[in-house]
Amino acid sequence: MCGIVGYIGTDEAFPLIIQSLEKLEYRGYDSAGVALLGSDIKVVKVVGGIDKLKNKILEGRVGIGHTRWATHGGVSERNAHPHLSCDGEIAVVHNGIIENWEELKEELRNHKFVSETDTEVVAHFLEERLGKGLSMEEALKELKSRLKGTYALVILKKGDDRIYALKKDSPLVLGILESGFMLASDIYAFSDKTNKAIFFEDGEHAIIRRNEYRFFDSENRVVEKRIENFSWSSGKEEIGNFEHYMLKEIHEEPNAVRRLLLSLRTDQREKLEALKKLMETKRKVMFVASGSSYFASLLGVYFLHRAGIESQTLIASEFHNYERVNGDTLVIPISQSGETMDVLDAVKLSKRKGAEIVSIVNVPHSSIQRESRFSLEIKAGQEVCVAATKTFINQVVLLMELASLFGYRAELDTLPQEIEHVIKSNEKTIRKLARRLKDKNDIYIIGRGVTYPVAREIALKLKEIAYIHAEGMMGGELKHGTLALIEEGVPVISLIPSKDDEVMSNVIEVESRGAMSIRISPESKEFKIPQTNSGKFAVFSVVLGQLLAYYIAKERGLPIDKPRNLAKSVTVK
Ligand code: F6R
Repeated sequence: MCGIVGYIGTDEAFPLIIQSLEKLEYRGYDSAGVALLGSDIKVVKVVGGIDKLKNKILEGRVGIGHTRWATHGGVSERNAHPHLSCDGEIAVVHNGIIENWEELKEELRNHKFVSETDTEVVAHFLEERLGKGLSMEEALKELKSRLKGTYALVILKKGDDRIYALKKDSPLVLGILESGFMLASDIYAFSDKTNKAIFFEDGEHAIIRRNEYRFFDSENRVVEKRIENFSWSSGKEEIGNFEHYMLKEIHEEPNAVRRLLLSLRTDQREKLEALKKLMETKRKVMFVASGSSYFASLLGVYFLHRAGIESQTLIASEFHNYERVNGDTLVIPISQSGETMDVLDAVKLSKRKGAEIVSIVNVPHSSIQRESRFSLEIKAGQEVCVAATKTFINQVVLLMELASLFGYRAELDTLPQEIEHVIKSNEKTIRKLARRLKDKNDIYIIGRGVTYPVAREIALKLKEIAYIHAEGMMGGELKHGTLALIEEGVPVISLIPSKDDEVMSNVIEVESRGAMSIRISPESKEFKIPQTNSGKFAVFSVVLGQLLAYYIAKERGLPIDKPRNLAKSVTVK
């Protein structure tokens, strides 16, 4: 995770770097820092968010910045990036993990290390090589040959009007601005300033001057790179009248679904048909995803099975332990960010084994999209809150539309209005329910079939946003153990698509043991849910679950958009 930025050009660098770091803050918000090149390298660092950096203005037209999600070393000012060499002449920001940092540090034992991070070795390594008479270009080549692990690195050197950048397995992109160049972890960092960018491939490095850049491949040969035109959110997402991005993004769901359906039926139609064809020709169809995206994939498997298409899904972090992919497998990674390291690793492994990759992502030009034969986009727009809301809904809708090509009855045309209605007519009820649940330690959510993945997703939202232990489970599994935990007053939310759904027997089981039973159902008097098919019921239940997590978190006074210990783009294992 972590967001990194570098700017070189004719404008003052500090405000530009701060603006971009603010846009990258969803990648990590433990600490932040900036280094600017003047007659010396000047550094400012803070623990906490970018806001705290704003009054520490530095002057200069070349600089680098970082927003951190801590991996090696606790959250402290000395562990905040940029990291410096002993003489303060080299400054480094990094996203990724240097796996052999201890070995390198041992080699550099004559250097004084001030942080507990893996990153700091990079600054000292370069200082050591420069001290031995190597040029910066030569030192960089040696660095590349020695580093193990994952990295996007952006580096400044005193007295050298250039920025150096290296990438392996962590995202890095160069934005072409009118006033110069900006390096960043993703295009959102500068999408308000340009729509032109060059994407680094693994093993490449670049040297950027004010008016030119040079890229080098993994063998350090000069390489010509294509400038890509991208289209992505052109400003910083405005929060408007909402108190939090999470609530804003839930309210955006109707429009996000509208936009996606239109796109799937027009500009993305051909790709959707091509995916269908591939699914018909390959022996095995396998989804791979993490977190919420994994729960969306479980729903995808459900919809496809209903339509008679066999598919399976694997959690990305366990993919290598369970996969049996080969040249006759279609692997479909699902990822909002398109950068999740576990998913990316699964994609690379599948490609090595000859599988075909067609991805489903939100962020265009993301690493997973670029590793794919082709990619379908969920068109949810930038999501600022760390928790997935509108992007989860759009992943599910895309999968429903795909299944409907095989005969699944999704009836999606009216879905946007229906979601709008579900939000409007239930928000008050959910707020009341949130007050009843805010002091609970555990919440159980049960579903069966289509509502099982939904139960898991709602539980995840309650954990990450409301900090309440929650378990989403198959109703049928209750009696095999978990029922022992159900006693007087324990909240159990049941997802009941229709009154004769199998889950009703579980509802009776928990109610007879005194549970605080909350029935989410079209039959319910408490909630207003349209009578419709079970797929859409699943979507409505997720929306209610998202609102519930939001309002409980609000009751508890939690930092909803930036929950502790988390980041939106999980680019480490
Ligand atoms: C939960 C959430 C995470 C992500 C997971 C995968 O609200 O956002 O569980 O779903 O980290 O991220 P992507 O979809 O970017 O691969």
